[in-house]
Amino acid sequence: MTQSQRNALIVGASRGLGLGLVETFLERGWRVTATQRSPSPDLAGLDAQSLRVETADIDDDAGVAALHDRLADQRFDLIFVVAGVATQAHDPLHAVPREVAAQVYLTNAISPIRFAEAFLDRLAPGGSLALMSSILGSVSLNASGGWENYRASKAALNTLARSFEIRHRADNVSVLILHPGWVRTDMGGAEADIDVATSVTGLADVITAQLGRPGAHYLDYRGETLPW
Ligand SMILES: NC(=O)c1ccc[n+]([C@@H]2O[C@H](COP(=O)([O-])OP(=O)(O)OC[C@H]3O[C@@H](n4cnc5c(N)ncnc54)[C@H](OP(=O)(O)O)[C@@H]3O)[C@@H](O)[C@H]2O)c1
Repeated sequence: MTQSQRNALIVGASRGLGLGLVETFLERGWRVTATQRSPSPDLAGLDAQSLRVETADIDDDAGVAALHDRLADQRFDLIFVVAGVATQAHDPLHAVPREVAAQVYLTNAISPIRFAEAFLDRLAPGGSLALMSSILGSVSLNASGGWENYRASKAALNTLARSFEIRHRADNVSVLILHPGWVRTDMGGAEADIDVATSVTGLADVITAQLGRPGAHYLDYRGETLPW
């Protein structure tokens, strides 16, 4: 590790965009701690001295607290909560069982903010907290409907992220609320617009350009500001 080497914590990195972000930041010379819920062959297959793999489920407060303890010696320039779910995303809200709808809301909106709160003391000065939202979380851009419960969960994440930033404004906290594009992952599907490499390259550029910028900023992977 060099003195100037940046340090990232990527949460939800077993596959998809999280895994792609880990690879990209490692390629860019960052030190990376990547979390998985269960052993990820893809993460295990990365041969990098600057990579540390940890295990945590963001819905498990005790597990998140244990991770916080294990990383007590670390300060991160970037803490990025990528984890998310889209269970029964294609069904209208009334067709989604209440417990399923509630779980999507817990994982996509409540748990990322609770994680942010728990790890704020691990953010280095001049660093940023990033949250993986979606353009579907924009209320004003919802002209086509669909993905009802998922949309609502990401809109809730955006609202909670803004409140989090306001609550910590005296500390000049930097909160980046990011849309990765529509990406070909397990969640995005094969018909999506862009591949993982395009998305994570753009996201890493945006994060690097915005690192430490105080306030809450809702941006896509090209750096465009999105309306709430
Ligand atoms: N793909 C897109 O087009 C798109 C567009 C907009 C936003 N997003 C958002 O981008 C993020 C990543 O999506 P993706 O496309 O990479 O999806 P993905 O391929 O389905 O991967 C989801 C990741 O989240 C992890 N995860 C889910 N629940 C978790 C929990 N409770 N605790 C810890 N990790 C958990 C998964 O871990 P396991 O392997 O253990 O399940 C996996 O690593 C999500 O927040 C998603 O909403 C994606």
